[in-house]
Amino acid sequence: MKPDAPAGAASTAVADPKPIVSLTDVEVHYALGGSSVGRLLGRSRGVVKALDGVSLDVAPGEIVGLVGESGSGKSTLGRAVLGMAPVTHGTVTYRDSVISGLGDEAFRPYRRKIQMIFQDPAAALNPTMTIGEGIEDALKIHRIPEAERPRRVADALERVGLAPAGRFIPKYPGELSGGQKQRAVVARSICLGPEMLIADEPISMLDMSVRAKMLDLMEGLRRDLGIAFLYITHDLASARFFCDRIAIMYLGRIVEIGPAEEVFEQRQHPYTQALLRAIPDISHRKDTVTELPRGEIPDAARPPLGCSFHPRCPKAFAACGWEGRDLRTLLEERWTGLGLDVYRRESALVKGLDAVRTTVSKDGAVSVIPSSDPKELARIVEEMRAAKPDEPFFSALRGMRVEHGGLRLDLAPFRQPLLTPQAGRVGRVACHLYPSDGVGAPGAGIRESGAAAAD
Ligand SMILES: Nc1ncnc2c1ncn2[C@@H]1O[C@H](COP(=O)(O)OP(=O)(O)OP(=O)(O)O)[C@@H](O)[C@H]1O
Ligand code: SF4
Ligand SMILES: [Mg+2]
Repeated sequence: MKPDAPAGAASTAVADPKPIVSLTDVEVHYALGGSSVGRLLGRSRGVVKALDGVSLDVAPGEIVGLVGESGSGKSTLGRAVLGMAPVTHGTVTYRDSVISGLGDEAFRPYRRKIQMIFQDPAAALNPTMTIGEGIEDALKIHRIPEAERPRRVADALERVGLAPAGRFIPKYPGELSGGQKQRAVVARSICLGPEMLIADEPISMLDMSVRAKMLDLMEGLRRDLGIAFLYITHDLASARFFCDRIAIMYLGRIVEIGPAEEVFEQRQHPYTQALLRAIPDISHRKDTVTELPRGEIPDAARPPLGCSFHPRCPKAFAACGWEGRDLRTLLEERWTGLGLDVYRRESALVKGLDAVRTTVSKDGAVSVIPSSDPKELARIVEEMRAAKPDEPFFSALRGMRVEHGGLRLDLAPFRQPLLTPQAGRVGRVACHLYPSDGVGAPGAGIRESGAAAAD
């Protein structure tokens, strides 16, 4: 079974257990620029790992939510399903057909079955076409016979609540409210009889007053027409009541997935816990509103080693993937409490820290930090360790030595946490705090960092 097969699909009112759409170990890696000579030689300045090994099934009539901070890969996942993002590894299948890697023409029949609803309805509608013409245009593109089109246009409009259809067919998008425009977009997507809609933040640009109605509309499409949804959102409250399952994404990976209620009520991954705590409590539990953990989302072109959440994780420990550049956060915390002179002197010692290369093996990670005075840098690190002995970075620091104009740090072995089922739960979580099924043993999933600095 795949790591995140639709265990939660059992909770939906779906009779057909066979997924409509399956992603298996999908990667979408974008090559970064690099020099023109480098590109000619096939070399680039590394890759942005927009999706980095995602497996996910969506069952007929199922609503799966994709949640995560900006840049976590939610839209890329939706675009990969629709052939709009290049799948560099793994496969996307629709029913039993592989649809990743198809050209435009070969993909066309599937585009009828899987449609996208974007965030901005105004941008999705052609302002020079009436609503009727816009929907008919979609039918024309997919070669629906002319005689059938008027009925399909009217049916779609009435289905989304733009009724009577005759009133809306001659209107231009500019004559509709935001909510009506989004309904027209939905009408355009359903006129071809899709089995799945990918809704990328479909309510975020709408007035608060119409958001719930739009979700009701989508829920009705699932109930009456059996349409499945991939619902991409930052709005966790709506995900909770609208979705059957929720996948929490971080830096191109799913870190937790399960039935919506389970993910909210028994959240396990420290990132899920932080993300859900950072919103006002929408249940009756008294969670306080807190900030997300320290630091920003790391650069997807240079993801952290091991568990990519480790630099921000409040529960991280030695085996989570520490490396030399993680010293940056600790140094910044130290400098906050010391004067400008100290900051200037010490930051000059570690100028190359962000680009430091780390090599990894089953014995752990080795980072060499270039420094004008590695001995002094070692003294500072020891001082920091004495001040914060419980800091997980130091629990991973096995040794230091001065070497080739730099300070060599030997760090603990680590593993890439993989989505693993947990006893007594339907969902899966990727975190070393929870028992693993043995996949991802020490050394597995290890990858080298610092690739961006390679050439
Ligand atoms: N065409 C592209 N070329 C290079 N990098 C890209 C491209 N598209 C997306 N990315 C990068 O991939 C990562 C994931 O982007 P994506 O748009 O999927 O995130 P998201 O979760 O949808 O974010 P948001 O919530 O802001 O919409 C980001 O680091 C983004 O910069
Ligand atoms: S594996 Fe778990 S504990 Fe370790 S950094 Fe990742 S989320 Fe935190
Ligand atoms: Mg997005």
